[in-house]
Amino acid sequence: MQTQVGIIGGGPSGLCLARLLSLSGIKSVILERQTREYVEARIRAGILEQGMIDLMRRAKVSERMDREGLVHDGIVLTFNGREERIDMKKLTGGHQVMVYGQTELTKDLYDAVLKDDNITVIFEARDVHPKDFLEGRPQLDFIKDGRQIALDCDFIAGCDGYHGASRASVPRGMITEYERIYPFGWLGLLSDTPPVHEELIYANHKRGFALCSQRSHTRSRYYLQVGLDEKVEDWSDERFWEELKKRLPGHIADKLVTGPSLEKSIAPLRSFVTEPMRFGNMFLVGDAAHIVPPTGAKGLNLAASDMYYLSTALIAHYTEGRDDLLDRYSETALRRVWAAVRFSWWFTSIMHKFNDDPIEHKIQLAELDYLMGSTAGQTTIAENYVGLPFDPSFK
Ligand code: APR
Ligand code: PHB
Repeated sequence: MQTQVGIIGGGPSGLCLARLLSLSGIKSVILERQTREYVEARIRAGILEQGMIDLMRRAKVSERMDREGLVHDGIVLTFNGREERIDMKKLTGGHQVMVYGQTELTKDLYDAVLKDDNITVIFEARDVHPKDFLEGRPQLDFIKDGRQIALDCDFIAGCDGYHGASRASVPRGMITEYERIYPFGWLGLLSDTPPVHEELIYANHKRGFALCSQRSHTRSRYYLQVGLDEKVEDWSDERFWEELKKRLPGHIADKLVTGPSLEKSIAPLRSFVTEPMRFGNMFLVGDAAHIVPPTGAKGLNLAASDMYYLSTALIAHYTEGRDDLLDRYSETALRRVWAAVRFSWWFTSIMHKFNDDPIEHKIQLAELDYLMGSTAGQTTIAENYVGLPFDPSFK
């Protein structure tokens, strides 16, 4: 079997990359370990920055997103009984974000990819093993329906998430990994109830952080900071709603509409970066190369710049015979990665409870008070929240 670009992983990074390449006539094969149903059922964050919105449009998969996505101009921070709005649109000269679930975005991408003649998707591809990418003859070995298959390709794109095979196949001496694990997780609840507020609410509270998010006017997504030893089974819906109300200012808690959960799960929080993001003819993209804590919803939006840079570089290779962009991929992608890692870490650190020492909370409240009282302070949150720009010189 043979193709131009062998893509490991059929999450948003692999799917969108394949579409961007296809529109320039470049062929790819996507090897996905799971079934389509499994991938599409995963619940992930739901905020798109302009960069990701633009990529969906460029990949010609934006019709439903443009129809159903909810555009937001601001976010709300609550702390010490206060409710403060950050007017992102005003502070950033017109930038906004869009509420559109990653679950929906993944469905839209599969609908397009499975109809695309330049793209082959192999589901339930087991034991994927990238080989010889350092020697310039990349090959992907895998097992499908019990048969061993070898896929020859010019390039490998490792879009297989944090637990994937691409990063794991790099010789240890060639890679540096930076990691921080946070001493808490997020318990998420999805429900068919109207959102408590039009915009997202990020709540700092002495009992711990809470987030009020949404998927539509009738579907809400809420999160609570919980200890790493907490189990979902111990959180009945009633317990979740009671705790959420305690962490919101009274006038907001009074408006909360509760209902049965459609899904509840706990996710750990981590910052993680791999350097470099290129190993010979293999390139890492998205969660395979970096993870950020979800405060600020940067995960997918960070994968977006990787997809943009790598697709641009591969298109330059195939259509113009230029490799200078492939050579700049890792350095250029990592610059935006570290900027988002910094913001996600910082926003996490001012909004969460790290320990029982009361001075910690007092200092957070002083910082939030300062930020809200300063246009510069609010602007720094707004600029990072709407998303830092892609490097305009990368073309
Ligand atoms: N072989 C084949 N496929 C694999 C393998 C493997 N060894 N390991 C993982 N995969 C598949 C997973 O099943 C998954 O569908 O790779 C895909 C990776 O998808 P994601 O984890 O969603 O990662 P990515 O596509 O980079 O998406 C960007 O940013 O923070 C996040 O939540 C955000 O998931 C989003 C991500
Ligand atoms: C979500 O809607 O799931 C969400 C929104 C914002 C975040 C994280 C998650 O910062």
